[in-house]
Amino acid sequence: MTDDRALIKSLIADVQDFPKPGVTFKDITPLLASPQGFKAAVDQLVASAPGEIDVVVGMEARGFIFAAPVAVALGAGFVPVRKPGKLPRPVYEEAFALEYGTETLTMHRDAIKPGARVMVVDDVLATGGTIGATAKLLRKLDVNLVHVAVVMELSFLNGHAALDETGIDSYSAIL
Ligand code: PRP
Repeated sequence: MTDDRALIKSLIADVQDFPKPGVTFKDITPLLASPQGFKAAVDQLVASAPGEIDVVVGMEARGFIFAAPVAVALGAGFVPVRKPGKLPRPVYEEAFALEYGTETLTMHRDAIKPGARVMVVDDVLATGGTIGATAKLLRKLDVNLVHVAVVMELSFLNGHAALDETGIDSYSAIL
């Protein structure tokens, strides 16, 4: 493991039984609070970008924290994917299944020019529902989703299967 990866890993805390019994929550707040750790995570995400990126897309809320500095570092724009009722102009919506119930994500219909090279950044890949729904939104905008990067993947939740279904072929996880 590289020094950067070891540092990032050491700054993500496991919190048992949050938000409900039986779940181990990955708390990224110690990573964000560490100047060296946060920079290392952003640097690794930036380094994973395959060539020129026009727009970095981040998902509310934790995705915003990493996607925005990655966009600045890449000289790209930042576009938010938001939960319902937050974006003021016409949106596309995509619903997806959670463990119990459903969640919906939205994106402004004119957020990105067709054909733009887009990278999606989030903190965690768990079931893949969030990134899968985001990929479907981006397809409606007719953009070129060239890469997905996350800080950490919870491999036991098999999020890769959801990514495969959406046809994403360039993906990287720091941890
Ligand atoms: C978390 C996390 C990812 C998503 C991963 O967001 O930030 O976006 O879950 O899970 P998945 O792969 O199973 O979709 P959450 O919905 O908890 O919202 P938050 O960022 O507002 O905390």
